[in-house]
Amino acid sequence: MGEKIINLVDQRLAGTPPVIPADAPPPSGRLLDRRGRRLRDLRISVTDRCNFRCVYCMPKTVFGRDFQFIPHEQLLTLEEIARVARIFVAHGVNKIRLTGGEPLLRRNIEGLVAMLAQIPGIELTLTTNGSLLPKKAQALKDAGLQRVTVSLDSLDDAVFRAMNDVDFPVAKVLEGIEAAAAAGLTPVKVNMVVKRGTNDASIVPMARHFKGSGHIVRFIEFMDVGTSNGWKLDEVVPSAEVVRMIDAEMPLEPVEPNYSGEVAERWRYRDGTGEIGVISSVTQAFCSTCTRMRMSTEGKLYTCLFASEGHDLRALLRSGRSDEEIAAAIGLVWNNRNDRYSEIRTAETAALKKVEMSYIGG
Ligand code: GTP
Ligand code: 5AD
Ligand code: SF4
Ligand code: SF4
Repeated sequence: MGEKIINLVDQRLAGTPPVIPADAPPPSGRLLDRRGRRLRDLRISVTDRCNFRCVYCMPKTVFGRDFQFIPHEQLLTLEEIARVARIFVAHGVNKIRLTGGEPLLRRNIEGLVAMLAQIPGIELTLTTNGSLLPKKAQALKDAGLQRVTVSLDSLDDAVFRAMNDVDFPVAKVLEGIEAAAAAGLTPVKVNMVVKRGTNDASIVPMARHFKGSGHIVRFIEFMDVGTSNGWKLDEVVPSAEVVRMIDAEMPLEPVEPNYSGEVAERWRYRDGTGEIGVISSVTQAFCSTCTRMRMSTEGKLYTCLFASEGHDLRALLRSGRSDEEIAAAIGLVWNNRNDRYSEIRTAETAALKKVEMSYIGG
């Protein structure tokens, strides 16, 4: 029955209304996919636009002046997003992350946060490049956001400017991180995507800088998301190497995960001055515990970061369907999920057509 949902896009294009199967189960809070994984996290992309052009995410060669972003009328409204979120929570989701593109570019993002913060029992977080945090951190906190994760790929200004490719200075991101901390959006996590030959010399200085600050740096293996970032396996620095480099100067010991299925592997400084994380999607896939659904800005559901097709929820939202019917559609999509891309990655899969990270969210 999953094919029916998969075909929603085609049906809409053909002008026929999408079919919600009558036998779809009601939300039970215990949805399982075909690999026995529960639905726990919803990552919502609120815009496909960004003011950075990170070389591993939105290279200028593809995302240039002429690039066609999704027109505004095709975006889900903030009310539609909040409605979907409530339905997901009824299905057992307990963590919602807002992503982009750059989510702080979305108009009235604070209003969305305020609506989502009304939903009881969820952790509400956001991933940002930090550029607008000095302006927005306090308003986000006041609206009910709990934490933020800020991307920062180097403390070396020249390296960072080259990686974001819009000449954005490190100092302003650091200001954003401090604004988030001052507003209480803590613990602040700092994501650094590591590319061999580009910013691997920044690994140890990054760890050193944030050691003792209360902020948690996570080193992310460069991934083959999308089709435009020119990913090559030899540009991936395995997390084991990252841990060895840091441990040589600042001794580390492993820490138990905060919860089952945590994406980052945790390590703490033996001298008690904090912790770091490594995210090893390439060398140590974590698909077997992946509980994440992603929704694009225009309301397509993706069951994997590396999917090529989404399921069109917006068509249902805009055709007068009830919450129960929407819930049933979401249930079907999850029940039919079988993804484990990172476990089966090869040179061939890396070359497949996949959705872009800036569209689906990180
Ligand atoms: P917290 O621990 O609550 O902060 O959340 P998190 O660990 O999910 O952190 P975050 O959302 O910042 O994810 C960090 C990065 O890990 C993302 O930006 C992605 O690069 C990567 N990542 C997250 N989820 C997945 C996933 O499902 N698959 C893969 N392959 N990578 C992921
Ligand atoms: N590989 C690994 N991480 C990536 N991100 C974006 N593109 C990639 C990639 N190709 C990260 C960003 C940000 C989060 C949203 O995803 O740096 O921290
Ligand atoms: Fe923008 Fe984040 Fe992608 Fe960089 S990684 S281009 S900041 S969405
Ligand atoms: Fe989940 Fe897909 Fe990432 Fe595996 S590759 S962890 S299934 S999003």
